[in-house]
Amino acid sequence: MERKWWHNKIAYQIYPKSFLDTNGDGIGDIPGIIEKLDYLKSLGIGILWVSPVYVSPCADQGYDIADYFQIDPMFGTMEDMERLIEEAGKRDIKILMDLVVNHCSDEHEWFQRACADPEGEYGKYFYFAKKENGKLPCNWRSYFGGSVWEQVPGTEWYYFHLFHKKQPDLNWENSRLREEIYGMMNWWLEKGLGGFRVDAIINIKKPLPFKDYPADREDGLCDMGEVLNHTCGIGEFLNEMRDRTFQLYDAFAVGEVFNEKPEELNDFIGENGYFSSIFDFSQTMEGKSTKGWHENRIPTPDDYKRCCFGSQRRSEGVGFYSNVIENHDEPRGVSYYLPKAGQNDMGKKLLAAEYFLLKGIPFVYQGQELGMENMKYASIDEIDDISSRAEYEVCLKAGVSPEEALKAVNQYSRDNSRTPFQWDDSCHAGFTSGTPWLPVNPNYTEINAKKQENDPDSVLNFYRALSRLRRDPRFEDAFVYGKTEPYLEEEPGIMAYFRRWQKQDVLVAGNFGDEAKELEIPSAFAEPERILLANAPVEFKGSSLVLQPFQVAVLG
Ligand code: GLC
Ligand code: CA
Repeated sequence: MERKWWHNKIAYQIYPKSFLDTNGDGIGDIPGIIEKLDYLKSLGIGILWVSPVYVSPCADQGYDIADYFQIDPMFGTMEDMERLIEEAGKRDIKILMDLVVNHCSDEHEWFQRACADPEGEYGKYFYFAKKENGKLPCNWRSYFGGSVWEQVPGTEWYYFHLFHKKQPDLNWENSRLREEIYGMMNWWLEKGLGGFRVDAIINIKKPLPFKDYPADREDGLCDMGEVLNHTCGIGEFLNEMRDRTFQLYDAFAVGEVFNEKPEELNDFIGENGYFSSIFDFSQTMEGKSTKGWHENRIPTPDDYKRCCFGSQRRSEGVGFYSNVIENHDEPRGVSYYLPKAGQNDMGKKLLAAEYFLLKGIPFVYQGQELGMENMKYASIDEIDDISSRAEYEVCLKAGVSPEEALKAVNQYSRDNSRTPFQWDDSCHAGFTSGTPWLPVNPNYTEINAKKQENDPDSVLNFYRALSRLRRDPRFEDAFVYGKTEPYLEEEPGIMAYFRRWQKQDVLVAGNFGDEAKELEIPSAFAEPERILLANAPVEFKGSSLVLQPFQVAVLG
């Protein structure tokens, strides 16, 4: 396999609005990111994905773009962005912008023109239709609830949106639109970007002509998962996009792809795949129901292990997944994947080591490196996120009690991970001198970067150690290119694996259970000098490794 510059990188996701505010307006900004580049460097970060900072009315927190060529003043200026790229470059960090091109904002000029004349040139940038015999063209349910069709006020026209009604879908069948997008991407790449995180990309291909699929809820609508099962031919667009953009710049592109079939993985991330990598969402999808949040089931540690190992097996010899435990669309990983008894520093380090040392590109979401946790919401009125509000309604409509619906929101809300970064224990966690746009998690006096900075046993310093270990020349090839071989896979509560490459050999072993376990390991590993990292003192008994509850040990 040809070696690429991104293969051995550690990536970090910034949700700018909640990272660091430098001008007191309560909103994180680009100068705030620049200020913390040295902090990121101390974590060994080589790729920095910045969630959208383009001009946006923020109906979906920047994932509704009104101008792809401008920075929204709330985040700073284009000069700030250029300075960020430059300053990051000095530290050997490449910037990824978020590429949101399945849809734009209804406030984008294209859409304004399209609404003025749905049959004109810009109308063809979107999907417009009229009812026929009183019926809309299809019964698909938008991701944020309700029909995908919305009426253009004062007309008989409807437009199509897979997400919020303020996010009209772009028509990728139109080659003019595609040209506009490639031009815009290259304009950004020319500025020295490292590449893109590619948003919601699986949705750009619609199975046309529009038609109904069997309804799966009382609302008479059909889940998009089902629609995507009927979709084919996205490869034409994605191959073209790669050839016309990423490839010309040797750029890194990581796709937000949820539904790849095993036989398609090579098309997505193989040698000449559409993308450099896609996120592994198998554990994110585990236990999710199409009926709504009230029907979801939280994965157990054994589910988690099965998902991770499944992805490792599928991608072996094919390409690189990007590994995450959380992002801005998910609750905090430590509040989700860890059993209650393990929701402490010990458990946080266990989860960190398990996912971070798998094959693939580890992505750390801001605050994850501190072990930031879910928020506690006492009422739906405390929720900002549009999708969480919609999901709350779905629960109520399904007959779930308001208490249970709120419980689901507490568990799954995207706001959980969007609360401001906890820098220190001063007012608003040092995030802003003003009023934060979203309240800070009250646990900031306990969990914050300043407190963890000088504590050698902190979660933060454990992440730093993981990052150093992954880049240690003695083991780097094993961590980057080595095969993942699950070990004692059937042992409940235990997640253990080897990473092997030529003479390099590493064993990662962790215990998600609340009782100590003795694991028989190859005797060569059962030596104190082979301990590379652990979250508690490691004990060997002959050729067995004794793991305390939530202990992890990396041996090599
Ligand atoms: C992606 C983003 C999410 C956004 C959606 C629509 O899933 O990660 O935050 O709401 O796309 O752009
Ligand atoms: Ca600000």
